[in-house]
Amino acid sequence: MEISATMSVPEIQQQRVSIAGCRHHFPVLRQWVNGKPLVYFDNAATSQKPQVVIDAMMKYYESENSNIHRGVHYLSERATQAYEGVRVKVKQFINAGHQREIIFVRGTTEGINLVAHSYGRRNLKEGDEVLVSAMEHHSNIVPWQILCEEQRATLRVIPMNDRGELLLDEYERMMGKRTKLVALVHVSNALGTINPVKQMIASAHARGVPVLIDGAQAVPHMKVDVRELDCDFYAFSSHKLFGPTGVGILYGKTHLLEAMPPYQSGGDMIKSVTFEKTLYNDIPYKFEAGTPNIGGGIGLGAAIDYINQIDLNAIAVFEHELLRYATEKVSAIGGVHIIGNAKEKASVLSFVIDGIHPHDIGTILDAEGIAIRTGHHCAQPVMLRFGIPATARASFAFYNTKDEIDALVRGIHKVIEVLG
Ligand SMILES: Cc1ncc(COP(=O)(O)O)c(C=O)c1O
Repeated sequence: MEISATMSVPEIQQQRVSIAGCRHHFPVLRQWVNGKPLVYFDNAATSQKPQVVIDAMMKYYESENSNIHRGVHYLSERATQAYEGVRVKVKQFINAGHQREIIFVRGTTEGINLVAHSYGRRNLKEGDEVLVSAMEHHSNIVPWQILCEEQRATLRVIPMNDRGELLLDEYERMMGKRTKLVALVHVSNALGTINPVKQMIASAHARGVPVLIDGAQAVPHMKVDVRELDCDFYAFSSHKLFGPTGVGILYGKTHLLEAMPPYQSGGDMIKSVTFEKTLYNDIPYKFEAGTPNIGGGIGLGAAIDYINQIDLNAIAVFEHELLRYATEKVSAIGGVHIIGNAKEKASVLSFVIDGIHPHDIGTILDAEGIAIRTGHHCAQPVMLRFGIPATARASFAFYNTKDEIDALVRGIHKVIEVLG
């Protein structure tokens, strides 16, 4: 049966069964913490890894380890083939037009820094403006701040309402002749808001402004099609997508990447070097200086194969139901307030409890074996906007269950009992 995002929960019952069966693919989830079965609700920080990802990386180091693009020997050829094969998988996964548009980086943060350094320095001048939203992660704020300081440009912020939704009329009004780039988060890690990025990209393009999308929290939870979105750049991290840490992807449109200067320099990003002149390599290699995280790339490839077997549309529907259930149960508890109530949300439940600091919530839940995240979630401006120092955040993945949400609800009651 073909699964689509518009299907009802019963319609994908069959698929849900197979999603439920996936939990045992994640060895880390089998453990007990503080005498209780581990409930892992910190997926927005990093997700767990299925056995197939762990095995793929083990196999690489056991039988294929070699440097890529350099040797003519057997192992180097195999490693190169495996690594370049992942580039093709990523291209298909996000429906890019060509594998030369897929750049391996360390993660979302490095992808954004690459664009800020390379595209930004080349294209921004004094008086220009970069637009970001009020709900960005620090990694989609600070690189633009540094760039604006260097180029004497201005960083402007698209505001949001109390539900955590961007004010699109304001956005339209803010864009003008000086706007040279828009950088937007697809799904907010602090609020869970899914931004209408397709519409926002179209508005920016109507004024000739390119758009970078921070997809760190989107790619693990929904099907992303960069050509359908028509974004100019899209960055995400493997470790939030059930793959290893230390590797991520920057997608960029060919014509933009070709016109951009290198970001870092050294081996592999060159065609020829003399002391007089260096000729740079073609894209994507122009942006991939030095030995990359080959084992990590192989792990990302295995994670994509794994996700493809399950179907991201089915994952989105399943997680939406988890979020609906958790929102209903948690918001019914007296004294608990959910931060971020956008109509379109994915996988994140941020909350505060009257009179109790989020760190204390996290500590008591940890004693119950429940891992949540507390703090500002690298989104301090979001906390400032809502007038709070921090939130407690439960973030879900498809291997989580309603039973685990029930455990969270019992845990919150205990927090209130002990500290309220
Ligand atoms: C929305 C968002 N953007 C960017 C990042 C940075 O990702 P990384 O640390 O993997 O580079 C995160 C990480 O939490 C995030 O949630």
